[in-house]
Amino acid sequence: MAVSIFLLFNNNIFFFIYGNRLAWPGLTPGSGEGGSRRMPKCLLLTGGAGFIGRHLSLELLTYGHRVRILDNLSEQVHGNTPLSVPPDVELIRGDIRDPETIAGALKGVDGVVHLAAEVGVGQSMYEIARYVGVNDLGTAVLLEQLIHNPVERLVVASSMSVYGEGRYTTGDGTPVRSVRRGVGRNASGWDPVLPDGTRLVPVPTDEEKEPDLASIYALTKYSQERSCLIIGANYGIETVALRLFNVFGSGQALSNPYTGVLANFGARLLNGQPPLVFEDGQQHRDFVHVSDVAQAFRLAIDSPRVAGQTFNIGSGHVYTIEQVAWMLAETMGQGEIGPEIMDKARAGDVRHCFANITKARDLLGYHPAQRLETALPALADWIRQSTAQDRGEHAKRELEAHGLVA
Ligand SMILES: NC(=O)c1ccc[n+]([C@@H]2O[C@H](COP(=O)([O-])OP(=O)(O)OC[C@H]3O[C@@H](n4cnc5c(N)ncnc54)[C@H](O)[C@@H]3O)[C@@H](O)[C@H]2O)c1
Repeated sequence: MAVSIFLLFNNNIFFFIYGNRLAWPGLTPGSGEGGSRRMPKCLLLTGGAGFIGRHLSLELLTYGHRVRILDNLSEQVHGNTPLSVPPDVELIRGDIRDPETIAGALKGVDGVVHLAAEVGVGQSMYEIARYVGVNDLGTAVLLEQLIHNPVERLVVASSMSVYGEGRYTTGDGTPVRSVRRGVGRNASGWDPVLPDGTRLVPVPTDEEKEPDLASIYALTKYSQERSCLIIGANYGIETVALRLFNVFGSGQALSNPYTGVLANFGARLLNGQPPLVFEDGQQHRDFVHVSDVAQAFRLAIDSPRVAGQTFNIGSGHVYTIEQVAWMLAETMGQGEIGPEIMDKARAGDVRHCFANITKARDLLGYHPAQRLETALPALADWIRQSTAQDRGEHAKRELEAHGLVA
């Protein structure tokens, strides 16, 4: 016979149907994958109305957590699109830089996922004050408020951009440290080479690779990550940083040309325009599905013994940018358009960086379930059903006007 139980937890009421075992969706304490604790928590998602935050909200609700979102619904991301957050989610419209709003949003919260950020490598190279303001000052305000309203766990969204160039070896497998390339094309093409012209082989990048910040965006993501880990360690807040690689999936802001490679390509194709591909399109990246990213955040909230750690979150698979442009065009039935290879580099971009996800697999129990090949049809369907202004040319002209395309 099923028995109903109400439980008061940090001022929140949780409802259980109890028979032979707990039957809250996904809530089986102590039996989770990757050692997940699966205790119900009230979680604040800063920037939670964005692409990743909306997917993460659903994931957390499914696993029995309560979700509160703090988001300023930035015009660049949300435009005029009506916001859809799940009905059980509490939404506070406010700015991450406003201490009073943050203090209010933290009341009764057990954990925070810090997603709020300005997100765009190219744009960060001329809207510097805006990126530093939201990303660095915003994180500082959040951390000061966390000192007064501490939580059990803080998970911060960092980025692969903190690595700069990924790891490389020479042809015989010898690791090469601190690889960088100059602006524009060199004598050997777009790839970084050793001073004597020796070609290098890109290999998966692990968390031990030293950061090398090639854009203001990367600088602010590193600063967010480190600030959270420093304050977390000193105030007893278990803190985890996830370095996300290229996230894709439905719900990414199609009309925001400053972020999301596949969203940008999709907006172009939807408007009958070729995807704009910088350099020669042979840059290597790891495309990870947003549902796998949501899984990673949930594990980072629930897993024991991961405080103070940094994890790569990718798919573990690698593609070239030209390849994904063709794959999306063909899946959208626009194969005759194909990408426009611009043969110009964008300041702040790196040539090759893709993820070694061994640490996340081992310590978090993270198991990415999606491959780009199999997830693209659903993304293409969603794009076809959307309306999107193509602002790719506009964004390119802005970069050119600032001398950031060479
Ligand atoms: N999408 C990716 O490929 C990717 C890769 C690496 C890291 N990340 C990081 O993941 C996080 C989420 O990214 P996303 O793709 O969901 O981006 P997004 O732009 O869709 O979401 C960001 C959210 O933050 C909100 N926001 C912006 N400024 C704010 C402010 N001042 N106050 C409150 N809210 C504000 C926006 O309104 C938006 O809803 C970001 O921190 C981003 O740097 C994303």
